[in-house]
Amino acid sequence: MAVILGIESSCDETSASICIDGEIRSNIIASQAIHAKYGGVVPELASRAHQQNIIPTVDQAIQQAKITKNDVDAVAFTRGPGLLGSLLVGTSFAKAFALARQIPLIEINHMQAHILAHFIDNPKPDFPFLCLTVSGGHTQIVLVKDYFDMQLVGETLDDAAGEAFDKTAKILNLPYPGGPLIDKYAQMGNPTAFALPEPQIPDFNFSFSGLKTAILYLIQGKVKENPNFIEEHLYDICASVQYRIVTILLNKLKKAAKHTGVKDIAIAGGVSANSGLRQALLDMGEQYKWRVFIPKFEYCTDNAAMIAIAGYHKYLKQEFVGQDIAPLARMHV
Ligand code: KG4
Ligand code: ZN
Repeated sequence: MAVILGIESSCDETSASICIDGEIRSNIIASQAIHAKYGGVVPELASRAHQQNIIPTVDQAIQQAKITKNDVDAVAFTRGPGLLGSLLVGTSFAKAFALARQIPLIEINHMQAHILAHFIDNPKPDFPFLCLTVSGGHTQIVLVKDYFDMQLVGETLDDAAGEAFDKTAKILNLPYPGGPLIDKYAQMGNPTAFALPEPQIPDFNFSFSGLKTAILYLIQGKVKENPNFIEEHLYDICASVQYRIVTILLNKLKKAAKHTGVKDIAIAGGVSANSGLRQALLDMGEQYKWRVFIPKFEYCTDNAAMIAIAGYHKYLKQEFVGQDIAPLARMHV
């Protein structure tokens, strides 16, 4: 039997999970509401909140899995990419736990873990598959050849898709994170109410900074004519912005699928919780005869279950690291 404790602390969620023989038994997430009023994650506040939350979160994960800390066989933790101060909390905790219990330590790449969340539930994708990983910090198309053998096919040259949602929310005076709210309002709006440009970027790469500027100019111009423009057209604005972000993402994914000939297509990361993206991907999958893989909502945004499942697959290969390991703010898939 293999009992893995997974620890995630790369951004603003402190999370702990127990995975027993590849099955997730608990996935506790302590979110940090403190950042909402600042319109984004404040790194120093995030580090402090991780310090407060880490022990109670791990305790709860162990309790919910109906085990004791003495049953844990290995600790997997997010090494990066992420905010260094946040990563240090999870890394230090994992090291201390592993040292105290004399059990192995496993380092996990957060971006790989988002993708490996597809190995929590059935049906699971077959290798090789393509994954569009869309979060607050990253937008990537990855060719997944094996659990830890991944090739970057394309990525954003500027803002991430999640940032495009969050920055739009800021323009619309909505709280952080903006993605979930824009998603909710978009469902009540008309996606073709406002035309927004699709950038012409070569290969399989993305760009979202031009879209952000286009949204800003559109809103500024309209508000000059009508100070209540945002309130009166909020749903249509959200639907139009979401529609454009989704089409930018899926047009590149379609191109990559055609280029590689791969038919197992997945999405991962916080933005994969977006209902417009999920539906449009299902529709596209039907059209192109893909097998489409969409994570459960709790495995889209940051969580430790994805760290624990990734840790389990490294445990099977006995891929451990020493106590001299350090977190990395930047890491490639
Ligand atoms: O993966 P994640 O939890 O953290 C990072 O690793 O960045 O992703 C967070 C991002 C935020 O930008 C948030 O606005 C976005 O995911 N997000 C959404 C939705 N839920 C979360 N974006 C669009 N629609 C959603 N439903
Ligand atoms: Zn993430």
